Amino acid sequence: MRLWTKPLMAAALLSAHGTVTQAQQPTPVPESYQHCTVCHGTQLMGNETNSAPRLSHLQDWYLTNQLNSFRRGWRGSHPEDHKGNEMQAAAKNLPEDTLQQTVDFITSTVSPVPHPTLNGDVEKGKALFASCQACHGADGKGNEVLKAPAIAGQNDWYVAKQLTNFLANKRGYSSEDSNGVMMKAASHVLQNESDVINVASYVASLAAPTEVDRIASSAVVAESTQQAGHNISATNTNQTTTSPSKESGEPMNKKALAAAALATTLSAGAVAETKRYPLPNNSTFPIARAVEVSAGTDLVYHSGQVPAAADESAEKGSRKYYGDTYTQAMSVFKKFESSLADIGLGFGDAVKLTVFLVGDPEMDGKMDFGGFMKAYTQHFGTEEQPNLPARSAIQIAGLAGGPGMLIEIEMVLAKPEK
Ligand code: HEC
Ligand code: HEC
Repeated sequence: MRLWTKPLMAAALLSAHGTVTQAQQPTPVPESYQHCTVCHGTQLMGNETNSAPRLSHLQDWYLTNQLNSFRRGWRGSHPEDHKGNEMQAAAKNLPEDTLQQTVDFITSTVSPVPHPTLNGDVEKGKALFASCQACHGADGKGNEVLKAPAIAGQNDWYVAKQLTNFLANKRGYSSEDSNGVMMKAASHVLQNESDVINVASYVASLAAPTEVDRIASSAVVAESTQQAGHNISATNTNQTTTSPSKESGEPMNKKALAAAALATTLSAGAVAETKRYPLPNNSTFPIARAVEVSAGTDLVYHSGQVPAAADESAEKGSRKYYGDTYTQAMSVFKKFESSLADIGLGFGDAVKLTVFLVGDPEMDGKMDFGGFMKAYTQHFGTEEQPNLPARSAIQIAGLAGGPGMLIEIEMVLAKPEK
């Protein structure tokens, strides 16, 4: 079976967003991971007979938290929590240096979405879920800042069993397990067994997180963290004060907040960040070394633009008709300006430019790169428009517009999905 390979994830990203993602090399399946499937099932889809949950939809930070929680004896220590005891033993057997690798394999696993097994009242469950969504999200896909995992995509029998465990103090048992204790407190809005079944049935009716959701809430977000500061909302900030993150050992900081705020925005499909890598050695040349377009972005390919006539009274093909390279480049950018505005874009959204220059007969047949740059630098790398695209500039023999035409530019732009 070849289900545990990273390229699968890369492919998911590619097809859903048209983003060019370098496929990663498949990593060999770690030995330590293989026995996890004995209880959790092939493809880690969960196995009710063993009371072992589905793991494939869980976020990497939550998996790491839980494995550490079992290893420290915070989870699975209550004397009557037999299944928790079993998993605690399995976690303790895991060699320390394989932990990260195991988590990576779990998150790259793709498995079928579970079928509902409980016959709860979904409408009643939905009403109860109102108190859960502050932490687990309205879509049940979790919230990293609050350390609340994705519960959509989980087997309903396991969701019900864990809720019962929290209510019975079997989980959230250790006072050091601050996240478990928090969830234990939250479980008490459920008054009886039918509340548990109803809310579990409602959770089972929510769409399971996709590969893209998971990537969006971890890797992509982590990278865009710094640019996301302005996305922090008051709600997120308030929620955080109630959420100690002792377990992960990292103090909750602005970066984490920003990441979660962005995760929320990303999963709502609103904003994505475009990352621009500068040229090496502090070069001030006004182009980017590379531009990274993340999930949640639409790419727009704009056709090449050629200049308008500078002097229509002049003879076509003459030097005066289109003007020199600088005049022509300014004309091309002017055309772009109105065409881009028309589709809700601006030069700041450009991620890649290809510039075709014809040799200028008045410059010994060489392209007038300086003339082009003089026009370019009025549109890119200015105070008002600092975003730099990746760019290539090439001298060509001629353009379809005929003699006299010295420049054509095409552009790729990225805009956040609506
Ligand atoms: C002996 C059977 C068994 C084995 C082997 C096993 N698990 Fe588990 N695992 C369980 C059970 C049962 C639970 C649910 C515990 C509970 O009820 O609290 C669980 C829970 C978990 C959880 C918590 C999931 C959640 O949603 O909170 C993680 C993570 C996990 N296992 C990972 C692993 C990994 C990784 C391995 C392999 C190194 C592994 N397990 C091996 C039985 C097993
Ligand atoms: C105050 C925030 C908060 C609220 C409100 C909350 N949860 Fe949780 N929930 C958490 C956290 C944090 C965890 C992870 C606990 C841990 O680390 O062991 C969790 C864990 C869970 C788990 C275990 C998931 C797993 O994979 O083992 C389930 C199921 C769950 N919550 C369901 C619910 C339901 C249903 C509600 C509403 C009745 C709810 N939660 C309300 C924060 C919350």
